[in-house]
Amino acid sequence: MKFVHITDPHIVPAPRMLCALDPRARLAAAIGDINRHHTDAAFAVFTGDLAYLGEQDAYEDLRKLLDTLVIPYHLLVGNHDDRTNFKRVFPETPADESGFIQYVIETEAGAFVMIDTMEAEAPEGVYCDFRFAWLERQLQTLTGHPVYLFLHHPPFDIGIRSLDESRLPDPDRLARLIDAHGDVRYLFYGHVHRAVWGSWNGIPTSALPGTNHQVGLTLGGSPEMLGTHERPAYGVVLIERGCVNVHLRDFIDESPRFPLLDNASKHAATADALPAPPKALAGI
Ligand SMILES: [Fe+2]
Ligand SMILES: [Fe+2]
Repeated sequence: MKFVHITDPHIVPAPRMLCALDPRARLAAAIGDINRHHTDAAFAVFTGDLAYLGEQDAYEDLRKLLDTLVIPYHLLVGNHDDRTNFKRVFPETPADESGFIQYVIETEAGAFVMIDTMEAEAPEGVYCDFRFAWLERQLQTLTGHPVYLFLHHPPFDIGIRSLDESRLPDPDRLARLIDAHGDVRYLFYGHVHRAVWGSWNGIPTSALPGTNHQVGLTLGGSPEMLGTHERPAYGVVLIERGCVNVHLRDFIDESPRFPLLDNASKHAATADALPAPPKALAGI
C-alpha cells in the first residue's frame, strides 16, 4: 500500500504570514503536488501542528485547502493546535471516549493507530492515564495484527536540545505497551520540522520537514530553537511484503529533470544543455 505522511503545516488565518512564509500557499503547493503525482495513495496522514495558534479561522482555511486534496486524509493534533476549535471545524474526526483525537484506521498493511499527545498551552508532549488506557485497550484488541503508530511528539531525544525538552515524557511507559503488543512495525511522528530517521526501542521511526518553516540542526546542546527556511517536504510511504520505505518529496523543487543515462546528459556543461526527459516524467 501507499500513503502520504505530511506534517506541521502551522496554518495561520489569511492573510497572515508565518516566519516570512505563507503556510497556506505552502500547503496548497504540497496538495497540488500530491494531486498531480500520488492520487493512487490510500490517504494522507497529518501528524499535528495543523494550525500555528489554533484559531478557528485557521482551521477553516485548512479545511478549504484540504477540500482540494483528491485523496482522503486523517488528522492528528500537535502542541500548536486547539482541540476545541479543531473539532468545531473537523467534527467528523474520530475521538476517544474522553474526547482526545485518538483513533484506529484499518488498512491492508495493518492498523494505523493515531494518538493524541497535546496538552493545551504546553509545548511538550503529554500522554495522560486516560489516553494510555485507551491505547492499551486498542493494542490488546489488535494483538496478532501489525500496528503502525502515529503521533506528534517523539517519545525519544533526537539530539536537538530545544526539541528534546518538549518530547513525550515517560517513554518507558509507552515502550512497555508497545512491547506487550509485540508487532508495532513503525512509528511516524511530527513536531521536529526536520527529516529524521532512526529507531527507538527496536522500532523504526521517521519524521519529516514541516510544510512551512523548519528547525535548524543545532546539535550539541544549544538551548536556542533555530528557525530556518530549509526546504519543505512530505513523505511518500510504501508498505509492501513487510517492507516500509519512506520517500522524501521536495514539493517546491524546480531543478532540472533529464534522462540520466543519455550521453547528452552526461556531457552537459550547463543545465540548458540537458535533454528533456520523456513527457510523462517531466514534473516528477
Ligand atoms: Fe510544528
Ligand atoms: Fe509541535
